[in-house]
Amino acid sequence: MATINKTLKPKAKPGSQMFGLVMCISIIALLFLISYQLSTNGFSIISSSISLRNLSRSKNQRQHTLHDKYLYWGNRIDCPGKHCDTCAGLGHQESSLRCALEEAIFLQRTFVMPSRMCINPMHNTKGILHQSDNASSAESRWAAMSCAMDSLYDMDLISETVPVILDNSKMWYHVLVTSMKLGARGVAHVAGVSRVDLKENSHYSSLLLINRTASPLSWFMECKDRKNRSAIMLPHSFLPSMASEKLRDAADKIKARLGDYDAIHVRRGDILKTRKDRYGVERTLHPHLDRDTHPESILCRIKKWVPPGRTLYIASNERTPGFFSPLSIRYKLAYSFNYSYILDPLIESNYQLFMVERLILMGAKTFIKTYKEDVNDLSLTDDPKKNTKNWQIPVYSTDGEGC
Ligand SMILES: *[C@@H]1O[C@H](CO)[C@@H](O)[C@H](O)[C@H]1NC(C)=O
Ligand SMILES: *[C@@H]1O[C@H](CO)[C@@H](O)[C@H](O)[C@H]1NC(C)=O
Ligand SMILES: *[C@@H]1O[C@H](CO)[C@@H](O)[C@H](O)[C@H]1NC(C)=O
Ligand SMILES: *[C@@H]1O[C@H](CO)[C@@H](O)[C@H](O)[C@H]1NC(C)=O
Ligand SMILES: *[C@@H]1O[C@H](CO)[C@@H](O)[C@H](O)[C@H]1NC(C)=O
Repeated sequence: MATINKTLKPKAKPGSQMFGLVMCISIIALLFLISYQLSTNGFSIISSSISLRNLSRSKNQRQHTLHDKYLYWGNRIDCPGKHCDTCAGLGHQESSLRCALEEAIFLQRTFVMPSRMCINPMHNTKGILHQSDNASSAESRWAAMSCAMDSLYDMDLISETVPVILDNSKMWYHVLVTSMKLGARGVAHVAGVSRVDLKENSHYSSLLLINRTASPLSWFMECKDRKNRSAIMLPHSFLPSMASEKLRDAADKIKARLGDYDAIHVRRGDILKTRKDRYGVERTLHPHLDRDTHPESILCRIKKWVPPGRTLYIASNERTPGFFSPLSIRYKLAYSFNYSYILDPLIESNYQLFMVERLILMGAKTFIKTYKEDVNDLSLTDDPKKNTKNWQIPVYSTDGEGC
């Protein structure tokens, strides 16, 4: 013991150097922690390629407090049409939701998400939604024609980029009660105030809650014609990537079973609809789409992108059994129904299935969309996706180029 004491005591000087070193390391660690905090609170940089895979594994539950400020746009996503039975599919609702989330990012506020999302029966062939005899009340009809927001999305994962709470949460109740107590200092029902004013005018910026439900514009319209798209933008892939954990897990399992695969998304169904003009001639908005989404055309078109023998995952709303079978002469075909043992116990609505399939499509080595949406996209057709309102005669002939 004595020897140890003796050897330690003379080391008093190196000890103070040690102290300096420890301080130095602590400061570096602190700086690192601060920069980590800054980068995780999400208001910093939203790049168009958010790294999601490993983000999704972290199980940080976000804490929301009354020190945060809140933005409320209403209790349901206001898609064009406003009613569930006229409401468009998930993609359209996501455009509206993304617009609202972008505003929350801009205002650095926590967004209050509707706890349920409208699901158009037309988009839900998965099980007949329980139509109660009692369906006279608007509320019970709404419950039957909607699905829980958190059955689709992972709120904690979204909160890593833009903080969100649900409008059926304790926190929201807490915010409501507090804002009522604070009165005019707590909440403002704003209409016709620009988002720049909401951010910069101290009358608004200091409020606990901004209630935007009075805006006559539908959610989607708030962003549609915004001049400055470059200012803030969540990538299109943001919400698709924010799928709830069990949906992500299902997609991961299926992707693991698919191994190395390519994928095509073949939109047919409702978008093929034709109508007769006044001379009784059938017309369509996408004149080549029916032809281009037939298996013979697909085989020809994708030959240069997908080598023979590859596993090809097909996501489609085509319901004719065996419709895509001709593709099996060159590819190993896979569909969602090949994995019904994974999906059936899990999937309650078509929106959930759609979310899983999107993750599978995103994971493909080569992914071919129906329409070209972006300069780098591969597509089955050259028809534009955007509704041109130009009803044309469908074209079935090929221009003799062969394959
Ligand atoms: C994610 O984490 C796993 C290990 O958990 C690692 O193998 C993988 O490379 C990581 N991926 C990315 C994109 O960082
Ligand atoms: C009718 O709806 C109300 C409220 O939605 C509910 O409390 C009640 O149990 C329902 N009755 C039946 C017979 O389903
Ligand atoms: C938001 O404002 C609308 C009026 O525009 C009002 O009907 C609604 O109760 C308000 N909601 C909250 C949570 O303040
Ligand atoms: C567009 O956004 C940038 C960056 O936020 C800003 O500097 C610029 O003033 C905006 N332009 C318009 C026309 O609002
Ligand atoms: C999927 O099911 C179809 C039809 O039963 C079959 O031909 C195909 O080989 C299956 N694909 C996979 C990857 O299991």
